[in-house]
Amino acid sequence: GNYTGPLRSQVHYSPPTGFMNDPNGMFYLNGVFHLYYQYNPTGLGAGNQHWGHATSKDGYTWENQPIALFPPEERVYVFSGSAVVDVNNTSGFFPDQDNGVVAVFTLARYYEDGSSGPQTQAIAYSHDEGYTFQYYDGNPVINSTSTQFRDPKVIRYGDQWVMVVAYSQEFVVAVYTSPDLKQWTWASNFTDHGLLGAQYECPNLVKMPVRDRDGAVVDEKYVITISLQPGAPLGGSVTQYFIGDFNGTHFTTLDAATRLTDFAKDNYAAQFFYGVEGNPINLGWASNWQYAGQVPTGNNEGWRSAMTLPRVNYLTKTAPRIGWTIVDEIYDPKPIMGESLKTATDMGNGSITVDYADVESNALYIEANVTGLDVAKATTFSTLNLTFTSPASGESLRSGFYFGGDNPFFVDRGQLRGFDNVFFTDKFSVADVYYDSNAPGQKPASWSMKAVIDRSMYEVFVGGGRHAGTVLLYPTQPLTVVNVAARDLPAGARVSVAVWALESTWA
Ligand code: FRU
Repeated sequence: GNYTGPLRSQVHYSPPTGFMNDPNGMFYLNGVFHLYYQYNPTGLGAGNQHWGHATSKDGYTWENQPIALFPPEERVYVFSGSAVVDVNNTSGFFPDQDNGVVAVFTLARYYEDGSSGPQTQAIAYSHDEGYTFQYYDGNPVINSTSTQFRDPKVIRYGDQWVMVVAYSQEFVVAVYTSPDLKQWTWASNFTDHGLLGAQYECPNLVKMPVRDRDGAVVDEKYVITISLQPGAPLGGSVTQYFIGDFNGTHFTTLDAATRLTDFAKDNYAAQFFYGVEGNPINLGWASNWQYAGQVPTGNNEGWRSAMTLPRVNYLTKTAPRIGWTIVDEIYDPKPIMGESLKTATDMGNGSITVDYADVESNALYIEANVTGLDVAKATTFSTLNLTFTSPASGESLRSGFYFGGDNPFFVDRGQLRGFDNVFFTDKFSVADVYYDSNAPGQKPASWSMKAVIDRSMYEVFVGGGRHAGTVLLYPTQPLTVVNVAARDLPAGARVSVAVWALESTWA
């Protein structure tokens, strides 16, 4: 693959060429993250699904591997799924090893006239830690006549395997259990929760620690994530989650709330790595089915879609009622950090400008913190704005805090001309976050953000990761100047900003 194009992300994973969608089969074993993905190696839109494969030791620097799963028959495609490490050889595939890997996925059959046939669940096993797989000759392991039954995610619970899988257009996440990954027994349905959209896709079930304000683990809960599309509040696809308890067969929610993993439009079908202890780590497909097959990286550079950055997840409860949330913070970016470009420790109502035209990656990491903010005195002009511009084209990406209203952080990609003015202004709506108070009715005095801008991607983590957003952008000329400006903050507010260059992981 050629990773030099001006839109090609430098610290995110993207496929060498062709079209990528959902992350699949993710596991961590012997110091290596394995990432598989829905891959059309022969086109620039969805179709002809294979499992592409990449590996990383640090979560950022990815090495492309040979395609791991090919369509087993004509017009039968390998759809999304997961993978586990069968340490105890429950499957019987691994008599002489404790590092056998089993992938569990959907086979999607199509008929000659293009219509959909059944979707069934199948497995494949690997004796070499996930580099090559063999299809199990007893497939499918869950048969079905449904044309909308897909995306199994398997976890370990006690001495059982547990699968969540979507009956997509019935809005069902079904739970199955198995002793050996081959025989599966239906256990329960989690039905009609949250936003339905047109279909449920890519469910995940994951155990998460609950941490208090000091970071100490005080409890443990399970989370079900469900991706749905179309039908997202901002249009197209989005991922929602539910917090609750799981007893090995049944998931019960803690409350009736529907929560979204991201406040922006471009994080879908995220999956959690199997085999990570402590805080679960995940990443998602950084796109939206509304425009994934049309974005300009295709015609201009021969590839479409990147993954989000890896994220570290835990639960926290900040308010008596609605305060439950997943905190998803950027996975430690140390491996990609470059030189410090600017630091302002007490900027007041001032601003900094960094010209990063000679940063080779064209990618930056930024942190901004505001403390001591007397929100009662904030006006509609009290802002901290981060604006990235292209002096060559005049385009800009705007984002920042707006402390006077109820939606204190926003990202606006509408000031980018893009390669197709009509398309981008129509679908690239402004995304923002709302105040999540420490106590009901009380607005916080401290705000923080971390951000990565990576050519055609912008990812922000606001409020210590309580609000995260992934945003695609397609400037016609590279953005090379960032300005961070504080205006009209009430007396007492302290502002600090730091800007670093990022090192390309593909150079
Ligand atoms: C989600 C999805 C999955 C399916 C895969 C096919 O984006 O539609 O439900 O398995 O993509 O590529």
